[in-house]
Amino acid sequence: MKTSRLAVLAAMSVWGGMAMVATPATAGNLERGRALHDTFCVVCHDPSIYSRRDRIANTYVGILQQVERWQSNANLHWSPYDIDSVTEYLAEKYYKLPR
Ligand code: HEC
Repeated sequence: MKTSRLAVLAAMSVWGGMAMVATPATAGNLERGRALHDTFCVVCHDPSIYSRRDRIANTYVGILQQVERWQSNANLHWSPYDIDSVTEYLAEKYYKLPR
Protein backbone atom coordinates (compact mmCIF):
# COMPACT_ATOMS: atom_id res chain seq x y z
CA MET A 1 0.00 0.00 0.00
CA LYS A 2 2.64 2.44 1.11
CA THR A 3 4.88 1.53 -1.82
CA SER A 4 2.20 2.09 -4.42
CA ARG A 5 1.43 5.52 -3.01
CA LEU A 6 5.08 6.37 -3.31
CA ALA A 7 5.10 5.07 -6.84
CA VAL A 8 2.18 7.33 -7.72
CA LEU A 9 3.95 10.30 -6.18
CA ALA A 10 7.11 9.47 -8.10
CA ALA A 11 5.14 9.18 -11.33
CA MET A 12 3.46 12.52 -10.68
CA SER A 13 6.74 14.27 -10.13
CA VAL A 14 8.09 12.80 -13.35
CA TRP A 15 5.07 14.19 -15.20
CA GLY A 16 5.53 17.53 -13.50
CA GLY A 17 9.12 17.59 -14.62
CA MET A 18 8.15 16.76 -18.18
CA ALA A 19 5.55 19.50 -18.25
CA MET A 20 8.21 21.98 -17.22
CA VAL A 21 10.54 20.77 -19.94
CA ALA A 22 7.78 21.21 -22.51
CA THR A 23 7.00 24.80 -21.48
CA PRO A 24 9.87 26.86 -23.00
CA ALA A 25 9.12 29.31 -25.81
CA THR A 26 8.83 27.55 -29.17
CA ALA A 27 7.47 24.19 -28.02
CA GLY A 28 4.75 25.81 -25.89
CA ASN A 29 3.86 28.15 -28.74
CA LEU A 30 3.60 25.39 -31.30
CA GLU A 31 1.56 23.20 -29.03
CA ARG A 32 -0.81 26.06 -28.24
CA GLY A 33 -0.99 26.91 -31.91
CA ARG A 34 -1.89 23.36 -32.81
CA ALA A 35 -4.60 23.21 -30.15
CA LEU A 36 -6.15 26.53 -31.16
CA HIS A 37 -5.95 25.72 -34.84
CA ASP A 38 -7.42 22.25 -34.51
CA THR A 39 -10.25 23.57 -32.37
CA PHE A 40 -11.29 26.70 -34.23
CA CYS A 41 -9.84 26.68 -37.73
CA VAL A 42 -10.92 23.41 -39.26
CA VAL A 43 -14.59 24.33 -39.42
CA CYS A 44 -14.48 25.70 -42.97
CA HIS A 45 -11.40 24.19 -44.54
CA ASP A 46 -9.03 21.35 -43.96
CA PRO A 47 -5.27 21.99 -43.91
CA SER A 48 -4.91 21.17 -47.61
CA ILE A 49 -5.84 24.83 -48.25
CA TYR A 50 -2.41 25.82 -46.92
CA SER A 51 -0.65 23.99 -49.69
CA ARG A 52 -3.04 24.61 -52.57
CA ARG A 53 -1.34 25.63 -55.76
CA ASP A 54 -2.28 29.34 -55.75
CA ARG A 55 -2.22 29.84 -52.01
CA ILE A 56 -2.42 33.41 -50.73
CA ALA A 57 0.33 33.32 -48.12
CA ASN A 58 3.90 32.77 -49.20
CA THR A 59 5.82 34.42 -46.39
CA TYR A 60 5.67 34.24 -42.61
CA VAL A 61 4.09 37.69 -42.50
CA GLY A 62 1.62 36.58 -45.16
CA ILE A 63 0.51 33.70 -42.94
CA LEU A 64 0.32 36.04 -39.96
CA GLN A 65 -2.03 38.33 -41.89
CA GLN A 66 -4.28 35.41 -42.81
CA VAL A 67 -4.41 34.13 -39.25
CA GLU A 68 -5.24 37.64 -38.06
CA ARG A 69 -7.90 37.95 -40.74
CA TRP A 70 -9.58 34.63 -39.98
CA GLN A 71 -9.51 34.84 -36.21
CA SER A 72 -11.14 38.23 -36.63
CA ASN A 73 -13.73 36.91 -39.11
CA ALA A 74 -14.56 34.12 -36.70
CA ASN A 75 -14.85 36.60 -33.80
CA LEU A 76 -12.32 34.72 -31.68
CA HIS A 77 -10.64 37.76 -30.07
CA TRP A 78 -7.24 36.07 -30.01
CA SER A 79 -4.32 37.76 -28.29
CA PRO A 80 -1.18 38.56 -30.30
CA TYR A 81 0.39 35.58 -28.53
CA ASP A 82 -2.33 33.26 -29.80
CA ILE A 83 -2.10 34.64 -33.32
CA ASP A 84 1.65 34.17 -33.23
CA SER A 85 1.33 30.63 -31.92
CA VAL A 86 -1.03 29.58 -34.71
CA THR A 87 1.11 31.36 -37.32
CA GLU A 88 4.18 29.52 -36.10
CA TYR A 89 2.33 26.25 -36.17
CA LEU A 90 1.07 26.76 -39.72
CA ALA A 91 4.45 28.02 -40.92
CA GLU A 92 6.27 25.01 -39.56
CA LYS A 93 3.78 22.25 -40.20
CA TYR A 94 2.14 23.23 -43.49
CA TYR A 95 3.76 26.16 -45.25
CA LYS A 96 7.29 24.99 -44.44
CA LEU A 97 8.39 28.60 -44.18
CA PRO A 98 10.93 29.97 -41.72
CA ARG A 99 9.98 32.62 -39.24
C1 HEC B 1 -15.95 30.89 -41.89
C2 HEC B 1 -15.09 29.91 -42.53
C3 HEC B 1 -13.61 29.96 -42.14
C4 HEC B 1 -13.08 29.87 -40.88
C5 HEC B 1 -13.80 29.72 -39.55
C6 HEC B 1 -11.66 29.95 -41.06
N1 HEC B 1 -11.34 30.07 -42.37
FE1 HEC B 1 -9.46 30.22 -43.14
N2 HEC B 1 -10.23 30.49 -44.98
C7 HEC B 1 -11.56 30.40 -45.33
C8 HEC B 1 -11.71 30.58 -46.75
C9 HEC B 1 -13.04 30.55 -47.52
C10 HEC B 1 -10.41 30.80 -47.27
C11 HEC B 1 -10.02 31.09 -48.72
C12 HEC B 1 -10.12 32.59 -48.89
C13 HEC B 1 -9.61 33.11 -50.19
O1 HEC B 1 -9.28 32.35 -51.10
O2 HEC B 1 -9.51 34.37 -50.25
C14 HEC B 1 -9.51 30.72 -46.12
C15 HEC B 1 -8.14 30.88 -46.23
C16 HEC B 1 -7.27 30.78 -45.16
C17 HEC B 1 -5.83 30.94 -45.27
C18 HEC B 1 -5.03 31.26 -46.52
C19 HEC B 1 -4.61 29.99 -47.23
C20 HEC B 1 -3.67 30.34 -48.38
O3 HEC B 1 -4.13 30.37 -49.51
O4 HEC B 1 -2.46 30.56 -48.11
C21 HEC B 1 -5.32 30.75 -44.02
C22 HEC B 1 -3.87 30.79 -43.58
C23 HEC B 1 -6.44 30.50 -43.16
N3 HEC B 1 -7.61 30.51 -43.87
C24 HEC B 1 -6.31 30.29 -41.82
C25 HEC B 1 -7.38 30.17 -40.95
C26 HEC B 1 -7.23 30.13 -39.52
C27 HEC B 1 -5.91 30.20 -38.77
C28 HEC B 1 -8.49 30.02 -39.01
C29 HEC B 1 -8.88 29.97 -37.54
C30 HEC B 1 -8.73 31.21 -36.84
C31 HEC B 1 -9.42 30.00 -40.13
N4 HEC B 1 -8.72 30.08 -41.29
C32 HEC B 1 -10.77 29.90 -40.00
C33 HEC B 1 -12.60 30.18 -44.45
C34 HEC B 1 -12.50 30.08 -43.07
